[in-house]
Amino acid sequence: MRQKVTVVGAGNVGATAAQRVFEGGYADVVLVDIVEGLPQGKALDMLESGPVIGSNSSIIGTNTYEETADSDVVVITSGIARKPGMSRDDLLFTNMDIVGSVTEQVIKYSPNGVIITVTNPLDAMTQHALSVSGFSRTRLFGMAGVLDTARFRTFLAQELNVAVEDVHAYVLGGHGDTMVPLVGSTNVGGIPVSNLIPSDRLNEIVQRTRDGGGEIVSLLKTGSAFYAPSAAVVQMVEAVLFDKHQIVPACVLLDGEYGINNLCVGVPAKLGASGIEEVIDIKLTSEEQKALKQSSEAVEELLEVMNNRNS
Ligand code: LAC
Repeated sequence: MRQKVTVVGAGNVGATAAQRVFEGGYADVVLVDIVEGLPQGKALDMLESGPVIGSNSSIIGTNTYEETADSDVVVITSGIARKPGMSRDDLLFTNMDIVGSVTEQVIKYSPNGVIITVTNPLDAMTQHALSVSGFSRTRLFGMAGVLDTARFRTFLAQELNVAVEDVHAYVLGGHGDTMVPLVGSTNVGGIPVSNLIPSDRLNEIVQRTRDGGGEIVSLLKTGSAFYAPSAAVVQMVEAVLFDKHQIVPACVLLDGEYGINNLCVGVPAKLGASGIEEVIDIKLTSEEQKALKQSSEAVEELLEVMNNRNS
């Protein structure tokens, strides 16, 4: 029997993630959205591509959650996306309500699944979903670091005219302006990147990575990125379904690692069938440690805004 993946939210990120999983042919997919006809139409359209692309997976669209029962992995993408001029944080309250009610529905039908949150502002939404679900951090975490790292690796590969696979890097911290590309541990074919690119230029690339989401928003004008975000979340889905024990940057509730407590931020974590198997505590330079602290403070500020609204 194939494994089962539910994607909640049939917008660009959700539908493209569903498409990528369906095309992989290794899991059956349920696409959920509140808009009548939208998930059904997109799912049927993808299903009809099966004979051409060679996928025998099933994919269905639905407006309710019964069909999602016993999913192995649930990806939550629901929420409104950023418009030009909006920060991720502007989305806070609207998406908090959406993610909260989606999480309640998801855990009702898939109490043993692994949940990956994607909705922005990512770190705050992950923390909110975690508290609504009562899940342990093992089974509920967020996607952002894989995306931010993919952007960083893309820009570095372009700069050096090397294969993207040869660029090894991590971007940690919150998924926002304060994210922390770890220049100190970035290497290209084993050579430290700081030996290959002058520091001024590296700083520009780091800044472009931090602004990566905004760069796409300002080009698209009517929405935000979805090809790279969906690819990033599907890498995490596959790490779970195939029990890969893969180390990826993920937004995880920290319990003292990196000197941070009770806060969801991006750190390297080992992903397998049970979800987060281990948070990898890598040695940061003092500058990186400081930047991670600053980034986690930015996440903390959002949580305070959320908590004050609740009280
Ligand atoms: C981005 C948005 C989706 O980084 O957060 O593209």
